[in-house]
Amino acid sequence: MRTPIIAGNWKMYKTPQEAVEFVQALKEPLSTLTAAERVVCPAFVALPAVAEALQGTDIAVGAQDVHWEDEGAYTGQVAPGMLAGLVKYVIIGHSETRQYQGVTDEMVNWKIKAALRHGLRPIVAVGESLEINEAGQTREFVDRQIRAAFDGVPASDLERIVIAYEPIWAIGTGKSASGEQANTIIGAIRETLAELYGEAPAEAMRIQYGGSVKPENMAEFMSQPHIDGALVGGASLKVDSFVALVRIAIEAKGLR
Ligand code: PGA
Repeated sequence: MRTPIIAGNWKMYKTPQEAVEFVQALKEPLSTLTAAERVVCPAFVALPAVAEALQGTDIAVGAQDVHWEDEGAYTGQVAPGMLAGLVKYVIIGHSETRQYQGVTDEMVNWKIKAALRHGLRPIVAVGESLEINEAGQTREFVDRQIRAAFDGVPASDLERIVIAYEPIWAIGTGKSASGEQANTIIGAIRETLAELYGEAPAEAMRIQYGGSVKPENMAEFMSQPHIDGALVGGASLKVDSFVALVRIAIEAKGLR
């Protein structure tokens, strides 16, 4: 049984102070909802304060990106070693970094390897544009993204990686994929992983859906067999809805 994982991607929202207030409010309602793993991913500047506020809890902290080099002249970037010990997870390849920061499939691969080298757990985001979706090329596109991302990543590291399938046209648009559509593509991702690593490791990997996930549609996604959780933007910014997402995931997976 794969443990569901719900991660809140706060993007460029919440100051350090707001982030700390938020996680303080989250602690109590999440303390009984332990059957799913819960992760918050604040902006870099809020990471130390949020990590401190969550010490002694089992709510994990993640970063939203990381550089692939250990150090160097990369203005504005954060090295993996700087995050080690501070966060457990790091989102890599989010479509907004691919779109606005020119992150390529090759860089995603470098970032994954760098994160793993420093003991971080990557949440690897993949997903197609509306154009590719409408052309009926989603499967091929996502297959290529996965193969590029995992190039040279050894099987022994797989258990430390989570994948997030996020169709770009569903991110922040209020327009989500259907549970069935998302399950089909995530099933196809598992087939690609099985080709690369074998059936058992592919079956064991956790794959989230992301893109306009909210309490109203969470059950639809979580009741799908291939979907192991969600990477959530907008609906993770409110305590009530974040808690509701976790509760619904646990219920839909029959874990309570
Ligand atoms: P959304 O964002 O939930 O606001 O659509 C998801 C994401 O970008 O990870």
